Amino acid sequence: MKKYLYTAARRILYSLRARRGYFRPIGPLVFKHITPDDVVVKKVCEQDIKLLDNFLPSKHFSKHSDRLQAQTNGKMEYLIAWYGVPIGYILAVWNPTDAEPLKQLRNLKEGTSYLEDLYVHPAARGKGVAKRLWDAGDQRLREKGYTAVLGTVMLTNPEMEGTHIRRGYRLLDDNIYDYETVFTDKNGVIHKWSTKVKYFIRDL
Ligand SMILES: CC(C)(COP(=O)(O)OP(=O)(O)OC[C@H]1O[C@@H](n2cnc3c(N)ncnc32)[C@H](O)[C@@H]1OP(=O)(O)O)[C@@H](O)C(=O)NCCC(=O)NCCS
Repeated sequence: MKKYLYTAARRILYSLRARRGYFRPIGPLVFKHITPDDVVVKKVCEQDIKLLDNFLPSKHFSKHSDRLQAQTNGKMEYLIAWYGVPIGYILAVWNPTDAEPLKQLRNLKEGTSYLEDLYVHPAARGKGVAKRLWDAGDQRLREKGYTAVLGTVMLTNPEMEGTHIRRGYRLLDDNIYDYETVFTDKNGVIHKWSTKVKYFIRDL
């Protein structure tokens, strides 16, 4: 009971502070006591964008507002983990080939969806927040009637392969794919980014 009250008070305090504009950097101490049950996962909405841009900034542009737009257009759901402030996210994409780099994938079985860009704030890592987000993503896809989910692992992040396999994923095929994105930043400069990836798939 004492721990519950303590956690609730902290969450409210962070939230109030953030919403009043006190964007203090988050340090590991702030999340010392966090457990997955303390974390709330919900769909992004317009009011969240400012907080997301402050706490989980993207380098060249607001990917958060782009994703809100894609959610509004019915292409995906952008799920955010909250502990008073936003501390992580995952993207549930309904049709994998809507995501530009995945257009190269052919013959995906019907009912396949895609979980993309799992991320947790460095100060909140190692406490089960990613697992909480991943579970919420799976749950949402099941509710929407999907029967399989695709995941991407960059060759530069080999530890994530084991993490996917422990979660029940298997390698989609033996290919190494080029994952390329092109985007225009707020100053109109075009950026290209590419990396090599493997695709993993799992039944839901
Ligand atoms: C990978 C990441 C999301 C993990 O977040 P987290 O909240 O610390 O993870 P959790 O505590 O919930 O652990 C979940 C699983 O991830 C694994 N994991 C944690 N950090 C990891 C890392 N840096 N690389 C690979 N796997 C990692 C854990 O071992 C655990 O797997 P297990 O249950 O099979 O042991 C986080 O480190 C991050 O945001 N990294 C940068 C972005 C990234 O690499 N995203 C993955 C894209 S595929």
